[in-house]
Amino acid sequence: MNKVTKRRRRTDYARYFEDVFKCPVCGEDMKVTDSCQLVCNRNHSFDFAKQGYVNLLPKHVKTKYTKDLFEARKSLMTEESFFKPVTDKIAGIIGKYGFGEKVNLLDMGCGEGSHLTAVRKAVKEASGAEIMGAGVDLAKEGILEAAKQEDDLLWAVSDLANTPFKAGKFDVLLNILSPSNYEEFKRLMKNGGLVIKVVPGENYLKELRYALFEEKHKHSYSNTDTIDRFTEHFTVVERWPVSYTVNLTNRAVSWLVKMTPLAWEACEDRIKAFLKHEEISMTVDTEIIVGRKKE
Ligand SMILES: C[S@@+](CC[C@H](N)C(=O)[O-])C[C@H]1O[C@@H](n2cnc3c(N)ncnc32)[C@H](O)[C@@H]1O
Ligand SMILES: [Zn+2]
Repeated sequence: MNKVTKRRRRTDYARYFEDVFKCPVCGEDMKVTDSCQLVCNRNHSFDFAKQGYVNLLPKHVKTKYTKDLFEARKSLMTEESFFKPVTDKIAGIIGKYGFGEKVNLLDMGCGEGSHLTAVRKAVKEASGAEIMGAGVDLAKEGILEAAKQEDDLLWAVSDLANTPFKAGKFDVLLNILSPSNYEEFKRLMKNGGLVIKVVPGENYLKELRYALFEEKHKHSYSNTDTIDRFTEHFTVVERWPVSYTVNLTNRAVSWLVKMTPLAWEACEDRIKAFLKHEEISMTVDTEIIVGRKKE
């Protein structure tokens, strides 16, 4: 797919679910035009970029998430299958609930897009169901990286607290290691829809935490408050601890350090020492929590 056709293909893909969009400026319905734009009834327009994404954020927001971070994250996910057990499990959950032949799936805080891409592929392979998938992230750098994927998915720069989508249009929302806005999530979900949230478990990246921080309280992670807040908003239908280790070689060690916000808080000397590892076994400890809208 060259750049021109990528813009065209992603525009054509958006046309399939044109009816889910609402204008991020005025809230009116939107149409996908032949000139690769989303345009609302009041003529607010948003171009599909040549890279194959659309920026639906009314005002640019600068985040701490950089191009380097997303590139490293993508390398770790795609070349080391760092999250494969998690995305396989998510695909299994979606398959099990049987949403029919067409599943509208939205990844809230999709970053560089590997997880949505992997979930779509696994669901399609397992059940043949067609995924109408969209990923949104506030960081343009993440969406630019996501748009490099070859698959037919929609990638949009957007704030997950205020998305450019109409109410009640999505079967499944994903929210993987990202912030959330549950009022917005509930607004977007169809009745009977699911939200699948992934949170770090107590031992998530524990070897890295021990290496980067002296302070004991930074050696483990508590997800209790996050899960409590989730259960206030949704009926929890399943909880799955997904925990495993991945053997990383030196180049993957450097991807790991670059890809995690944990390194933002660490001192240079400790980071340098950690980067010397020729190989290391890294714990990926997560919990998948599945919720339905409360009646
Ligand atoms: C730790 S990263 C996780 C990204 C991806 N889900 C993954 O697991 O690789 C957190 C992501 O949340 C995004 N994010 C933070 N606040 C957001 C907001 N208000 N709206 C959309 N995305 C947001 C960041 O830009 C970042 O990509
Ligand atoms: Zn408008």
